[in-house]
Amino acid sequence: MDNESWNERYAGTEFVWSVTVNEFVEQHLHGVAPGRAIDLGAGEGRNAVWLAQRGWEVTAVDFSDVGLEKARRLASEHDVHVDFVCADATTYAPDSDVDLVVLSYLQLDAEGRRAVLEHAASWLAPGGTVFVIAHDRTNVTDGYGGPPSAAVCYDVAESVAALAGLTIEQAGVVERTVTNEDGVHTALDTLIIASRPA
Ligand SMILES: C[S@@+](CC[C@H](N)C(=O)[O-])C[C@H]1O[C@@H](n2cnc3c(N)ncnc32)[C@H](O)[C@@H]1O
Repeated sequence: MDNESWNERYAGTEFVWSVTVNEFVEQHLHGVAPGRAIDLGAGEGRNAVWLAQRGWEVTAVDFSDVGLEKARRLASEHDVHVDFVCADATTYAPDSDVDLVVLSYLQLDAEGRRAVLEHAASWLAPGGTVFVIAHDRTNVTDGYGGPPSAAVCYDVAESVAALAGLTIEQAGVVERTVTNEDGVHTALDTLIIASRPA
């Protein structure tokens, strides 16, 4: 989807996604000493705001200005500062090293995925971490929700290969419970945590 399609999706005053931090971001990054973070494909800002509340100096990057406007609103409602950058995640580059790059359900084609993962790895200061949570390719056939096309989903081995040079702390498919009016469902996500040696 291009930025105009995302802008249309974000149109309206209601938040499209949850405003609560992603459960895996919370589980794995809770208690990590804050530093400089980039949330790539930040959308409406749930993860960026959560990180800022924990003392991180956060830059939230997204190519949807409508999504970022909502993220600004969320940051303001929580009285935290986040730097917002409207840019294409596949070509964006920070002006200095960072301690954390979060990619949370940033749906891209294979070339885009490789670019953002390689770039994210290259931005890390020693000891820094790339955190990826995304719709896994197996979710299309065996999971629930998410994009219907495997072409924009992640694959664990492919993602690990793009993060060459980092230490893989965790890499696998994790289950996420989705409860809605249709019942209780299991979605399948790629989870990768990779760090630059200190
Ligand atoms: C499914 S949403 C996830 C938002 C947020 N990370 C979260 O977990 O709530 C995907 C986001 O990625 C953004 N996005 C997709 N492709 C992008 C690109 N090439 N550059 C920047 N943002 C992009 C979309 O605008 C959208 O906000």
